[in-house]
Amino acid sequence: CNVVVLISGSGSNLQALIDSLGEGNPARICAVISNRADAYGLTRAQNAGIATAVLDHKAFASREAFDAALIESIDAFQPDLVVLAGFMRILSADFVHHYHGRLLNIHPSLLPRHKGLHTHQRALEAGEAEHGCSVHFVTEELDGGPLVVQGVVPVQPGDSPEALAKRVQIGEHYIYPLAVRWFAEGRLRLTNHGAELDGAPL
Ligand code: GRF
Repeated sequence: CNVVVLISGSGSNLQALIDSLGEGNPARICAVISNRADAYGLTRAQNAGIATAVLDHKAFASREAFDAALIESIDAFQPDLVVLAGFMRILSADFVHHYHGRLLNIHPSLLPRHKGLHTHQRALEAGEAEHGCSVHFVTEELDGGPLVVQGVVPVQPGDSPEALAKRVQIGEHYIYPLAVRWFAEGRLRLTNHGAELDGAPL
């Protein structure tokens, strides 16, 4: 199963995916594409011998033009799955449709709570006892596609957004490789009714 990973930054989720490959895992990362040339994740990919590409969104006149070029750049690798791992661009409807059923994202909250940015701060402000992360199929609704798997962490007294983010990221690094592996094994699918694992609704 060929996987293209899209990043914008540090790429710690990319690293977790790289570390989960090999030994019985049918997923293979064929390329990492970043919209930022300075994303540290590009170095992680190069260290693992994975092809990289940079597509700077600022070089395009519109979101549609950027997304069209991004599709071209991704499809050159003929992926079965496209994985958003800290890719900080909102994707157009055309892009999302093009990869329907083969586009995953990870979001740092227990969706449907806290869509969008600053999720850790918002979880703290809401006084929540639990917070976490979610892997979901991407649909047109931002952070709103069918859920695949969630990781729950406790909020501790005196937590800062940074401390909470660290705890959530440990969860991310556990659940994202799991979801990608399920997909690569042919066990995870998006149907008209939502996400299914081994034929059962999630
Ligand atoms: C993660 O917290 C992810 O949930 C969010 O962006 C962050 C990416 O971190 N979408 P990294 O680049 O994988 O370290």
